[in-house]
Amino acid sequence: MVTKIRIGALISGGGTNLQAIIDSCESGKICGEIVFVGTDNPDAQGLKRVASRRIPTFVVDYKSAIKNFNNDLNKIELPDDFNINDLLLKYSVFPADADLEKTKKFLTLRAAIEKKLLDEMRPYPFDLLILAGFMRILSPYFIDKINSEPDNFRIMNIHPALLPAFPGLDGYGDTFRYGCKIGGCTVHFIDYGEDSGPIIGQRAFPIQENDTLNTIKKKGLALEWELYPSCIQMFAQNRLQIVKKIFELDSGEKVIRTVVKIKGES
Ligand code: GRF
Repeated sequence: MVTKIRIGALISGGGTNLQAIIDSCESGKICGEIVFVGTDNPDAQGLKRVASRRIPTFVVDYKSAIKNFNNDLNKIELPDDFNINDLLLKYSVFPADADLEKTKKFLTLRAAIEKKLLDEMRPYPFDLLILAGFMRILSPYFIDKINSEPDNFRIMNIHPALLPAFPGLDGYGDTFRYGCKIGGCTVHFIDYGEDSGPIIGQRAFPIQENDTLNTIKKKGLALEWELYPSCIQMFAQNRLQIVKKIFELDSGEKVIRTVVKIKGES
């Protein structure tokens, strides 16, 4: 018997990627099963997609939690192993010259909310955590709890642009407004930066004169629904190998990057 991988999912919105992944699990395109769906948004439409299935769901309402904590900082319950200096060293989403106090507050609030998220996830052991339109930054506190070792990547994300171009919240919008002739989507592992983790797969589509943001989103999403399941299946087949590659720059300087090598591809 083939062992299926256990997949946990976090969503914030419509959940069309989640749907494609559920369908792929059911049809056998992914050798896996969804063991929970969690969200930061009580109104996430994607929750309806699992309502008729026996998949556990939960909500950790980020918006209310942030408001609560901001109103009364004494309400923040920090995890016992919270260490702000460790998080500051690792966190690389904000620029290096960002206001230190603001970064500290951001990371403190996040860790407190992520503790709740981890508590909700605990009853459902998983092999892979997928972010399927989860619109919240995960702090190193959370990431370290899932990855356990630095290069043991277990969180995957889909991003609506051809990374490393256009990280952030609005990949298709940024691609469109820049006047790009090609758009695309990327599946990557999560690291401590903003959409900066090792790339697993990418798909591209042409952008024509008469394309609008809407048509670009439609083209992109159609590719996302193929790409994400295929990357998850490669994880399930144990085909994603993390390797360090050394690249030499024109200056002669050498840089080391962590990249994904796909086993079975030359
Ligand atoms: C997708 O475009 C994905 O790339 C981005 O958020 C969107 C989620 O769409 N991260 P859906 O909720 O899967 O329909």
